[in-house]
Amino acid sequence: EVIDAGGQVLLPGFVDLHTHLREPGREDTETIATGSAAAALGGYTAVFAMANTDPVADNAVIVDHVWRRGQEAGLVDVHPVGAVTVGLKGEKLAELGTMAKSEAQVKVFSDDGLCVADPLLMRRALEYSTALGVVIAQHAEEPRLTVGAQAHEGEQAARLGYTGWPASAEESIVARDCLLAQHANARLHVCHVSTSGTADILKWAKDRGTKVSAEVTPHHLLLTDERLATYDPVNKVNPPLRTESDAEKLRAALAEGVIDCVATDHAPHAVQDKDCEWSSARPGMLGLQTALSIVVETMVRTGLLDWRGVARVMSERPAEIGNLSDHGRPIEVGEPANLTLVDPDTEWTVRGAEFASIAANTPYEGMRLPGVVTATLLRGRITAREGKIAS
Ligand code: DOR
Ligand code: ZN
Ligand code: ZN
Ligand code: ZN
Repeated sequence: EVIDAGGQVLLPGFVDLHTHLREPGREDTETIATGSAAAALGGYTAVFAMANTDPVADNAVIVDHVWRRGQEAGLVDVHPVGAVTVGLKGEKLAELGTMAKSEAQVKVFSDDGLCVADPLLMRRALEYSTALGVVIAQHAEEPRLTVGAQAHEGEQAARLGYTGWPASAEESIVARDCLLAQHANARLHVCHVSTSGTADILKWAKDRGTKVSAEVTPHHLLLTDERLATYDPVNKVNPPLRTESDAEKLRAALAEGVIDCVATDHAPHAVQDKDCEWSSARPGMLGLQTALSIVVETMVRTGLLDWRGVARVMSERPAEIGNLSDHGRPIEVGEPANLTLVDPDTEWTVRGAEFASIAANTPYEGMRLPGVVTATLLRGRITAREGKIAS
């Protein structure tokens, strides 16, 4: 097939360090196959599938199962994230070494969704990760400071009767883990940075030589707690949407490289878990099929990033952080390519029901967004073309 790329932008295939596929356990909301399709349509050639499945991905049997299911789907490389602690319970380290050496060759470990709250356990995980050459990703929430919290602190949360999820609950544990990572001479990755203060802490840690990297989600770049005015649970997410000045700082930090990359935190949920009271709704929103457009809207159209920068935050840096040698860089002559072709100016209207995901919980429903992924190639084979999965 000849692809006419006139007026389009060619990028290395995107890499998502933070995706929730719901297999095993909640295949009613997403499977590895449907999530892979959503990823390919969003321009991704590799995703890291978070460990908070049921059962939890805390052993070699589950991570190898996830890896093989991804290979069967054949649309993106599905790299399983291993749990840091058994059952994500934060009590006992999982067998990181066994998972790292399994067929799936787990490269990233995280208790995302929950948190390694115990500092001694986190220090041991970091020390061990250095020996294994893997990276620990921190969900960036001190759970003892977010008990009962449902939203960013402030007026909107107060009206709901909540004290809120304060910025300090994120910043205190990020600061702690930067110090622990420095102590262990380990590599730390900070998930979904959401506050201005966390960006300051990251800058401080990087300046003093800590091997820390960080991601920001598309929704924390664009959306703010103003969205809470209607208390529509589609906007409920962990960490919560914060203020416009936080979002502005996050965009600047991403442009400067203080925050390394964009990661979706793609979190599919069933209708009944979102179409309900705010307090009983599950946190999280879809991201794979809208990430590029949100980056174009918030970073490219504002002049904060050029397309070279988009390649850096969507592909190169996440591939480096996740230890992928086959993604996130220009191809060598003769090498099968992982590539994404983007029509930068065309706008489209978001319709959750049209996504490849089983779930439809997008906060962007009905919005017109710029930037269309017109083709995705995995190792030289077209996986998505003009909004459809290539058969
Ligand atoms: O909003 C979120 N949803 N944040 C998380 O950390 C977990 C995720 C999920 O699994 O739904
Ligand atoms: Zn790969
Ligand atoms: Zn998280
Ligand atoms: Zn997550």
